[in-house]
Amino acid sequence: MTFDITKIARPNILTLEPYRCARDDFQEGILLDANENTYGPTLKNISSEESALGLNRYPDPHQIALKKQICAYRNSEAEKPGSLVKIPTDSNGKSQGLTAANLCLGVGSDEGIDILIRACVKPGVEKVMICPPTYGMYSICCVVNDVEIVKVPLELDTFQIQPEKILDQLRKDPDIKLIYITSPGNPTAQLIKQSLILQVLKGIEELSWNGLLLLDEAYIDFAPSGSSMSVLVNKHKNLAVMQTFSKAFGLAGIRLGITYSTPEVSILLNSMKYPYNISNITSSIALRATTEGSLNNMKHVVGTIIEQRAIVLEKILKINGVGRNVGGTDSNFILIELLNKDGKPDNKVAHEVYSRLATERHVVVRFRGSELGCTGCLRITIGTPAENEKLLEEFETVLTDVNK
Ligand SMILES: Cc1ncc(COP(=O)(O)O)c(C=O)c1O
Repeated sequence: MTFDITKIARPNILTLEPYRCARDDFQEGILLDANENTYGPTLKNISSEESALGLNRYPDPHQIALKKQICAYRNSEAEKPGSLVKIPTDSNGKSQGLTAANLCLGVGSDEGIDILIRACVKPGVEKVMICPPTYGMYSICCVVNDVEIVKVPLELDTFQIQPEKILDQLRKDPDIKLIYITSPGNPTAQLIKQSLILQVLKGIEELSWNGLLLLDEAYIDFAPSGSSMSVLVNKHKNLAVMQTFSKAFGLAGIRLGITYSTPEVSILLNSMKYPYNISNITSSIALRATTEGSLNNMKHVVGTIIEQRAIVLEKILKINGVGRNVGGTDSNFILIELLNKDGKPDNKVAHEVYSRLATERHVVVRFRGSELGCTGCLRITIGTPAENEKLLEEFETVLTDVNK
């Protein structure tokens, strides 16, 4: 089928013109065009680094240099030997790698989640599919946008998607416009197999479904190298992929997320976003974070987190009262089952351990026992070696006491 943006986007969104600001035409000279304060920031004792950020000026709405650096990184990962996802070529053999035209940058990937609903799903009429257990923000954005949620759960033994059930639901319900899939999952820490995502994409192309499959890859850099499917958005036009600087890059505080999609979708998203959503501070730090030296450092830190994850998992699973590692090992957290005296996964035990760890021991983890397929589960982020040791020590003491 031919991809038809006019059937995917809401009609009002299609009428938007791509945003243009005065600086698109003139960037230099005496800039008296945007009602900025040309005297400069009024901060007392401004440092030379802060001065260099040009904080009295509006940021660049397009961020092309940053987008190019992000694309260079993702393309180069996909080109490495052994990469699980390869850059496709078109019918003339030309590479379909990512370019700046595929990207929309947002205030965290949370902005990407919301903007896609607003772009495609008619409030009060159309619907969004989610695959629980999954990240809670999809549902919050659906509620805010007055959009109904349809649930097609993950297969609960493997935490993989169920392509046939997803496609059946799409056949039954033509009002579904978006599907959110998290890979690696939260709270499952499980990478979704590429073959299953491709099965859904093939199915929706055959169905001529007019919607988007959103793959949220917030934790992708903790998964095996070359797992990101972002490089496939030019081939599979119904695919959009989201990533964030909040996890592997260690930059949750700068609030930067990326949505990769086909250029047709990307133009719409860039027309909808607030023009100056990416601050000068955010872009300057992200530009540094995507240079070769910083990327190598990110990989080094990711390697350390993965090593620590193995140590924590090995030790925690030996503690009396801990059941299975319910999730996968593709993220910077683990999902652990807590058992009661009868050896059964138990939410009461898990909640009490969670609560006492925080209040009595000042170690804060996340209770996830209410999520589908996660009875008795705590989600634990992998910290520094010292934090992990403290966690393991306090966790054992509290769990032993709760199960006494
Ligand atoms: C699966 C998933 N997607 C998106 C986000 C949000 O990321 P950001 O900080 O970029 O808004 C999170 C944050 O925890 C997440 O777990």
